[in-house]
Amino acid sequence: MIIDYNDLNGVFHLNNGTFSYILKVTEDKQLVVLYYGKAVNINNYFEEILAMSQCGFSLQHPSGLMYEKLQLAYGTFGKYALKEEAFLIKDDQGVMIHDFEYFDFKILNNSTLIIRLKEKTRPLWIHLKYRLIHDMSALVKSVAFVNETNEPYEIASAMSASYGLNARMNQVMTFNGTWIKEFSTVQNELSRGRLSFTNLSGVSTHTYQPFLALSNAQTTDDIGEVFGFALIYSGNFTMTIDKDIFNQTTVQLGISAFNFNWSLEPNHTFMTPEVVSVYSDKGFNGMTQTFHRYFLNEVMGFHQGNQYSQVLLNTWEAFYFDIDETRLIEFGKRAKKLGVELLVIDDGWFASRSDDTSGLGAWQLDCEKFPNGIQAIKDQTGLEIGLWIEPEMTNSKNGTVIGPGENLTPSRNQYVLDFTNDEVVDDVFEKVSSILKAHPISFIKWDANRPISEPCSKTIVHQGELYHRYMLGVYKLAQKIKDAFPHITIESCSAGGGRANAGMLPFAVSTWLSDNTDACERIRMQQSAAMFLPLRAIGSHVTAVPNHQMLRETSLKMRGDVAFFGTFGYELDFLKLTPAEEKEVVRQIDFFKKHRKLIQSGDYYRLLGNLKETEGEYAHMVVSGDKNEALVGVYQILCKPNWEGMHVLLRGLNENTFYCVGEKTYSGCYLMNIGINLRQIFTGVQKVDRMHQGRFGYGDFTSEVFYIKKKD
Ligand code: DGJ
Repeated sequence: MIIDYNDLNGVFHLNNGTFSYILKVTEDKQLVVLYYGKAVNINNYFEEILAMSQCGFSLQHPSGLMYEKLQLAYGTFGKYALKEEAFLIKDDQGVMIHDFEYFDFKILNNSTLIIRLKEKTRPLWIHLKYRLIHDMSALVKSVAFVNETNEPYEIASAMSASYGLNARMNQVMTFNGTWIKEFSTVQNELSRGRLSFTNLSGVSTHTYQPFLALSNAQTTDDIGEVFGFALIYSGNFTMTIDKDIFNQTTVQLGISAFNFNWSLEPNHTFMTPEVVSVYSDKGFNGMTQTFHRYFLNEVMGFHQGNQYSQVLLNTWEAFYFDIDETRLIEFGKRAKKLGVELLVIDDGWFASRSDDTSGLGAWQLDCEKFPNGIQAIKDQTGLEIGLWIEPEMTNSKNGTVIGPGENLTPSRNQYVLDFTNDEVVDDVFEKVSSILKAHPISFIKWDANRPISEPCSKTIVHQGELYHRYMLGVYKLAQKIKDAFPHITIESCSAGGGRANAGMLPFAVSTWLSDNTDACERIRMQQSAAMFLPLRAIGSHVTAVPNHQMLRETSLKMRGDVAFFGTFGYELDFLKLTPAEEKEVVRQIDFFKKHRKLIQSGDYYRLLGNLKETEGEYAHMVVSGDKNEALVGVYQILCKPNWEGMHVLLRGLNENTFYCVGEKTYSGCYLMNIGINLRQIFTGVQKVDRMHQGRFGYGDFTSEVFYIKKKD
């Protein structure tokens, strides 16, 4: 890992062995990006990159450089660029401040480079922070605006990062969706112009997730170059990809500039959220594995201990609001017998909450429903207990809520508390912590079921700060809960997958991906989300059939096989299971417990699915770091008549090691080049044996999970 600065030519070279990120200070004291991509040797004549043909009618800067043909590392509009750039800052007369110059740099711990830009005439600073991560092809960026003048300035736009990429990248992958249809992978071809994805809902969104990847048409899951970007933020954001007339591609991610204005007071600093970018020359799987490791180790603190998920049973789809102590004790006792470890009491446990019209905000246990408290449920079932909360919301518009007055528009009969106000955050913390202190809780599911509308806060002076201050309030509350209750695991949720992004990962180690729990929809969504999110972070539950969102009937086996590749849990009514179903649930739970370490810390590979032209077949696998074991999941949505079958080629194994797959033994080379042979296991004349239901190749909605182990 090297961070090098060459005084003679003003070139910065960040190189971690897999990628290089090269910047240069020009004669005009502008910081430009020379290169981002596969690692190149430090001893090269990088200035050659600046050689350019004449543009004509360019602005005449002293260096003679034509900045139209360059990409500023972090630029603004007005002097060196006449296009939308990474930031915009104005004085109190509304005049744009456009003359920032390179000032100096420092290197911290051999891994962090801080470059300071200064406004030419006053002590107004921009600190660009670049952090290399040991042994990972990841670069973390953020920006601080520091005002050491005596005047306030208005930040009208402040992206977290701007990346100049080469022209080869011509495909962009993003994820979009809506409630119960989260995480569709969309790949667009990049042509000239600006493509932009924006969330303005205030509290995250299902519409776009703050992740994107750039690749070229030849890139596959295993081969080719990819640049992935993830913004560590859950509020309003914008991601843009701009391919200009000279084919330069610029990617920017950050807080959305729409309705954003931050007053940077004298002696104050404004920090942007971080962006992590990943370079892979091993296709999308290479990118995915780096993101997974980065999030697990650097953001979720996974290395600090064993945080593999517990097998949970959530009450929501089994009972919705219809919960009480007697029912939960009976339910929990059965669950405990089958191997469940954690009972999550979803919505409906608190006073005045028998539907979604009332109750939010008070956070007191409903003593009629739970006369002996949560302790009784824990004692009698022997399960750990989790609670659902929705701390940002209230059903009453009389409190300190966001909105201009009385005439507010409800959504799910609720309003958003004004988290820009520290007192509101502190008050919610007091209420939530008294519940967490009074009851033996080891898990909370933190939900947020409406967007911010009619944005207006009575607390703040500058309304353009509302959305970001709101998110800072959310993060403040999350940090306070985390500090006060370090034993509590948090799962984030927002009407299903509205917050299934990295913004909550520093506090919440998992996220509820979608209220759609149908196995066929879920396999697609989980594979998409796993492009960036580690499996430990992907909330996945087995629920009832007919599925509540799709009315589709899939086997218990397939529902389990899909849910294994995530946090794994249930939302079934365990009191209604048949003996055969109970047996299957016991098998699934045993299986997950045995393999959760492999699933949640192994290297993840997509084998078939979102990116490949299959017709409803999906496959993925996880491989342990030592390559001694692996778990492969294969899924077929619809059965095909007289199907040719397929060989699923595995990845990540040792070529010369022999592996046991069930009773048989194969070399890694065989499994990765010839693959697992999958075919239909019935013909038109056979009678269907119900025992096969759900097995791959046995009708619609089928799956198989193979455990693979190095032969002794
Ligand atoms: C929305 C969530 O996505 C569901 O899982 C459930 O927790 C409900 N809210 C409860 O109101």
